[in-house]
Amino acid sequence: MKASPIGVFDSGYGGLTILSEMVKILPQYDFIYLGDNARAPYGDKSFETVYQQTLQCVKWFFDEAGCNLVILACNTASAKALRTIQQNDLPLLYPDKRVLGVIRPTAEIIGTFSQTKHIGVLGTAGTISSMSYLIEMGKFFPDCTVSQEACQGWVSLVEENKVHTAEADELVNQHLHAILQKDPEIDTLLLACTHYPLLMDTISKHLPPQVKAISQGEIVANSLVDYLNRHPEMNANCSKTAELRFFTTGNEEDFNNHASQFFGKKLLSEHLELP
Ligand code: DGL
Repeated sequence: MKASPIGVFDSGYGGLTILSEMVKILPQYDFIYLGDNARAPYGDKSFETVYQQTLQCVKWFFDEAGCNLVILACNTASAKALRTIQQNDLPLLYPDKRVLGVIRPTAEIIGTFSQTKHIGVLGTAGTISSMSYLIEMGKFFPDCTVSQEACQGWVSLVEENKVHTAEADELVNQHLHAILQKDPEIDTLLLACTHYPLLMDTISKHLPPQVKAISQGEIVANSLVDYLNRHPEMNANCSKTAELRFFTTGNEEDFNNHASQFFGKKLLSEHLELP
C-alpha cells in the first residue's frame, strides 16, 4: 500500500476546527481536507441523503486522492453515515482502508470532564435525533445522566458571519437556557457540532460559572494519535511531508475567504466538481 495523506471530511467549514488540532499534534503528517460546501448544511438532511453524500466523498478520498484513512470530522455525517460505511461499504469495496468518526472518541472521554456526572450535548437536529451520543456515552459512562439539545440556527450564525451579533447572543442564550432547564445539575456541555467552537465566546458569556463548554477538536486529535499508535501498519501508510491540501465542492474563493476563521490561518483551496 502506498503511503498517502489522511483524509478529513466535513459538510463544509466546520471540520477545519478538528483538522487544526490534528495538524498541531501531528505536524509532520500530510492531510487532505474536503468540505462539501455545495451541499451543506447536512444538519437537517435525511439519513439516506447524508449517507449517500458522505459515501460519495469517501469514495473520492480513496479512489482519486489515494487516501488509506479518512476521518469524518462532522458530527452529522458520523451520526448518520459512518456505521453503514464501516459495516457495509468498506468490507466490500475497500477492505484495507478505514473510516473513523468523531462521536465515539468524544463519547469515550467526555464523562471524565464532569464532577456532577450530568452532561449536556449540543448538536444539529440530525446529530441529536440520531441519539448517537446517548447510545455511545451510555456504553462508556452508564453512571452519567445525558441531556440533549438541538441548537437550530447556530450553524447558520457561524456560516453567515453573525457570531458577534445580538441575534447570536439571543439564539445561544435560548438553547443554553433550554438545556440547563432540562437538567440544572449539568456541569459539562459538549459542543457536538464542528461549528460551535466558533461561538465559544458567546456560549461562555451565557453559562453559569459551574458549567464548562467542551469542544471536541483536541479530543478527536488525541484519539487519532492513539489510533495510529495502536495501528502501526496504518501509521506506516500515512505520508509525512507536512503537506496540507484543501478541496471544496463549492466556490474556492468563498472557501478561502471564510475558512481562516475555522482553521486559524489563511489557506488556499481547490475546487472539486463531484459528478
Ligand atoms: N459539520 C456539521 C456537524 O458537525 C455541522 C454543519 C452542517 O450541518 O452541515 O454536525
